[in-house]
Amino acid sequence: MTCALYQGPLLLSLLLLSLLHSSQEICPSMCLCVSDTASCSSSGLAKLPKTLPFSSVTLDVSHNHMSWLGPGSFKNLPRLENLRLAHNQLTSLDPGVFRNASGLRFLDLSSNKLQVVQQHYFQGLWRLEELLLFNNKITQVEPGTLTGLSSLKKAYFSLNQITHFPFFSIQDHSHPFLTMLDLSSNRMSHLKWEDVKALPGLVQRGLYLHNNSLICDCTMYSVFWHWDLRGYDPLKDFTDEHTCSINGDPRSSIRFLRQNRYFLNCTVEKAVSQPVTVLLSNVLVSEGERVRLDCQTSLMSTDLSFTWFSPSKGYITQTSINDTLISLFANGTLEIQAVKVNDSGLYVCTALDIKQGLNATREVNVTVLPPAGESFNTGYTTLLGCVVTLVCILVYLYMTPCRCSSCKQPKPPLIPIATYDPSTLTSAFSSSVRDESKIQTDKHVAFVEPIISEVAEEWIPERLP
Ligand SMILES: *[C@@H]1O[C@H](CO)[C@@H](O)[C@H](O)[C@H]1NC(C)=O
Ligand SMILES: *[C@@H]1O[C@H](CO)[C@@H](O)[C@H](O)[C@H]1NC(C)=O
Ligand SMILES: *[C@@H]1O[C@H](CO)[C@@H](O)[C@H](O)[C@H]1NC(C)=O
Ligand SMILES: *[C@@H]1O[C@H](CO)[C@@H](O)[C@H](O)[C@H]1NC(C)=O
Ligand SMILES: *[C@@H]1O[C@H](CO)[C@@H](O)[C@H](O)[C@H]1NC(C)=O
Ligand SMILES: *[C@@H]1O[C@H](CO)[C@@H](O)[C@H](O)[C@H]1NC(C)=O
Ligand SMILES: *[C@@H]1O[C@H](CO)[C@@H](O)[C@H](O)[C@H]1NC(C)=O
Ligand SMILES: *[C@@H]1O[C@H](CO)[C@@H](O)[C@H](O)[C@H]1NC(C)=O
Repeated sequence: MTCALYQGPLLLSLLLLSLLHSSQEICPSMCLCVSDTASCSSSGLAKLPKTLPFSSVTLDVSHNHMSWLGPGSFKNLPRLENLRLAHNQLTSLDPGVFRNASGLRFLDLSSNKLQVVQQHYFQGLWRLEELLLFNNKITQVEPGTLTGLSSLKKAYFSLNQITHFPFFSIQDHSHPFLTMLDLSSNRMSHLKWEDVKALPGLVQRGLYLHNNSLICDCTMYSVFWHWDLRGYDPLKDFTDEHTCSINGDPRSSIRFLRQNRYFLNCTVEKAVSQPVTVLLSNVLVSEGERVRLDCQTSLMSTDLSFTWFSPSKGYITQTSINDTLISLFANGTLEIQAVKVNDSGLYVCTALDIKQGLNATREVNVTVLPPAGESFNTGYTTLLGCVVTLVCILVYLYMTPCRCSSCKQPKPPLIPIATYDPSTLTSAFSSSVRDESKIQTDKHVAFVEPIISEVAEEWIPERLP
């Protein structure tokens, strides 16, 4: 009895409340409206319900048969933030579908039949954070599509038939929060790698490109190689799905993060090799050259402090340098004006992100070769000098007076370093062949030269992206 006495008014007031509620906000019969969520999924809808609760924040109309949405379809839902339209039959969106829906933060259009993502589709959705477009029939994404989506964090375009993507429309300040761009399982064979390399670091770090129809080439390989080096998640998580085909023949598919033998000549072919060979883990330079060692680590912050440990000079920080021959740039790059042989060794850079308490290190094994020509000449001259001296002594001992004209030390043979043009590998060989007759005594030139050319080819740190 007491129980009923207590419960009576409570139930009544609840009933009243819900009546009030529904009189203000009409929930269509096929939907379920709870709190600020209206769910009309799997309701066999061919059209959006005419009226929906005014205060809905989340609207779920996925798994229906809708093939069309009119302009301003959501204008009566001013609080709408999450819109789920997945698994419908939409082939395109008319201009203005999302007019007056600028509060949208999450938009799921996956598993529809969209074909061309037109520039106007998401106009005005400047609060949009997640855009799901996977598993459609998209062949093309128009260049201005992402323009103005300045809050975008994640965009999913996988499982479509996209052949080209407007990477250039994503720039440092246009999409400052974008950390995930999924373009996997599409049909991209050639990408504009220049545009890809120009993407903000955060986007590159979260760019998914696996399971496309990429064609193997050195530029492509070098981009992935750099990402792999930095341990980006898309490469770690989908190592085996990163494939490319030789000459576009799908039968000759290579898992290029596992098998890199095909790309070995990328390091030799100069024109395309440069980005590949800039791994500064091993640096080979000649004495007297200027060396730049970069300190690119996995840390993305722009506010990093760097410390180098050098075998010959110990710890180097920006404040500790008191030497015009060595400089540490704000970006962590260490520059040594003229390296000495005893500068060789393992250089370790530590990048420190003080705000986040993170650090990362980068190691570079520097080998400084004595100037090739000189070292050879010295050895050669010394040897020659010894022989000549010995001959002179013998002559002196057995003949008098000595008329040894060869006692005068010959000028060391000129090695054609000065004429060597590092921009052409062949010239290194042709020049040595050409000069062979002149310096027949010096059989080593041919060996000396390729070493020099390798130095020139392999160490191009300024090219690091
Ligand atoms: C839609 O937005 C326009 C301006 O962009 C405004 O004039 C109009 O009143 C809005 N409609 C609704 C229903 O909020
Ligand atoms: C790769 O893409 C094709 C369609 O392009 C898809 O059918 C397949 O499931 C994808 N494979 C993986 C492993 O994602
Ligand atoms: C490497 O060289 C071989 C033979 O010279 C050639 O068939 C192949 O296409 C080259 N690879 C690349 C990536 O250029
Ligand atoms: C390296 O060589 C220079 C002269 O070439 C010498 O002054 C310096 O002391 C050497 N440093 C070390 C660590 O051996
Ligand atoms: C830097 O070197 C100069 C002389 O070369 C010296 O007078 C000065 O005290 C040095 N400064 C530091 C911070 O070691
Ligand atoms: C670092 O800064 C120096 C000087 O400003 C520049 O020459 C060098 O290319 C930069 N290195 C990297 C990796 O950005
Ligand atoms: C780098 O981080 C590790 C822990 O992750 C810490 O032990 C170490 O002291 C840090 N090094 C520096 C130079 O801050
Ligand atoms: C650095 O390279 C030299 C020659 O290339 C090699 O002998 C040495 O072992 C390497 N050092 C390390 C720590 O890898």
